[in-house]
Amino acid sequence: MKSKVGIIGRGNVGSALARGLERAGYEVSVRGNDAAAVRELGAWAPIVILAAPHGAVDAVVAALGDTIAGKVLVDATNALTPEFQLALGFTTSAAEELQKKAPAARVVKAFNTIFAQNMESGQVLGQKLTVFAAGDDAAARAATLELASAIGFDAVDAGPLAHARYLEPFGVLAIRLAYGLGMGPGIGFRLVH
Ligand SMILES: NC(=O)c1ccc[n+]([C@@H]2O[C@H](COP(=O)([O-])OP(=O)(O)OC[C@H]3O[C@@H](n4cnc5c(N)ncnc54)[C@H](OP(=O)(O)O)[C@@H]3O)[C@@H](O)[C@H]2O)c1
Repeated sequence: MKSKVGIIGRGNVGSALARGLERAGYEVSVRGNDAAAVRELGAWAPIVILAAPHGAVDAVVAALGDTIAGKVLVDATNALTPEFQLALGFTTSAAEELQKKAPAARVVKAFNTIFAQNMESGQVLGQKLTVFAAGDDAAARAATLELASAIGFDAVDAGPLAHARYLEPFGVLAIRLAYGLGMGPGIGFRLVH
């Protein structure tokens, strides 16, 4: 029996991950900007994926409240300024800031380097893309890697949550390649290993 997965955000990312996870046999529930529904989701799911805009993090954490204690909280956000620059980095990351705001959750950074249109299959041109998972709790990382593999990604353990400092600029590189340099979102990164 596969795990229940809650997804916060029913936009490009949330809906694509939901389709991929449902196809892989997970029981998935998706909620949008509705605090009561987000709280209900937190109570229901052992794994919650945050697929809302980075600016919504405080509201989401407040809505989840104590329901997220002990749960895996996967941070798929990219924290960008309005000019599409990285909003924070070097000495912290969006994921580490999320962990400080929700200290009882087991935060894992993952999926932020993948374009939404490739999230349902985990592949581009028949090749598996690599999803990196960084978090301080080994079991939470493993649970995230299992989800990503089940969707169809190549899933790689990227170590502690502080490594989100490297994954987040990597997400910005993807955005630059796709939208700044005209390659479009039908691209993705693959680690040869
Ligand atoms: N698009 C990509 O290719 C991509 C790739 C990697 C990472 N990301 C990151 O993933 C996140 C989502 O991106 P997206 O493209 O899916 O955005 P999107 O299509 O604009 O969808 C955002 C979703 O977030 C929900 N939301 C907003 N405020 C909320 C709140 N306070 N509580 C709960 N839900 C809230 C919205 O709910 P309603 O539907 O109720 O309005 C909406 O469903 C962003 O952080 C982005 O940086 C995006």
